[in-house]
Amino acid sequence: MIKIAPSILAADPLHLGQDVRRAVDAGCDWIHVDVMDAHFVPNLAYTPETVKCLHEEFDIPLDVHLMMTDPETLLDAFLRAGASSVTVHAEISGDVNRLLEKIHSAGALAGVALKPGTPAEAALPYFHTADLLLAMTVEPGFGGQKLDPAVLRKIRALRDLGYRGEIEADGGIRPDNLQLLMDRGLTVAVMGTALFRCGDMRAVVDELHRMQPNPLQEKE
Ligand code: DX5
Ligand code: ZN
Repeated sequence: MIKIAPSILAADPLHLGQDVRRAVDAGCDWIHVDVMDAHFVPNLAYTPETVKCLHEEFDIPLDVHLMMTDPETLLDAFLRAGASSVTVHAEISGDVNRLLEKIHSAGALAGVALKPGTPAEAALPYFHTADLLLAMTVEPGFGGQKLDPAVLRKIRALRDLGYRGEIEADGGIRPDNLQLLMDRGLTVAVMGTALFRCGDMRAVVDELHRMQPNPLQEKE
């Protein structure tokens, strides 16, 4: 069953707790926390304190996506705050595998994110160390963008290259394009706008959980 991870970037900032409660009650599987440093991406979002408050209030895995040039500066703080998974970007200059080891030693799942322009092959060094690969389906930094269809091929390529862990996508995912992603091997869908702007979140999440992948024919 596809895991649905609402991105709090699209939640009402004046009522974050209520919106997360709505997502938990709607049956969402993870809460996706988009951390931004105004350097790796031209936006600024969320601190370890936000993760700590969410961890104290809610019993749901917190999937922390570090869109940071130097994620190590706050990695321990996010792990101590209660992150269940932490994802760093393959594009940073630091030693990604060493960061994945640090995340694992804290008992969390370790992920590597690829921007839309970064090829699937860039994830090869992490196939045996990353629990999840996050294929960004938009340029990181802002919610409400349109999914980049070129990333569909990348998700399929990661499976064809032999990756067997979680594949997560983030950005522009809607009920009407999720099937395309699942058919290529997606297992976790980050959804912000499509979830927090919908009327009956429970009904939408139930519908998404009923979706099944139809593995593609060879050449599709
Ligand atoms: C981009 C952000 C968005 C957000 C979800 O850096 O990570 O992908 O979480 O975006 P929407 O609102 O398009 O689902
Ligand atoms: Zn994200």
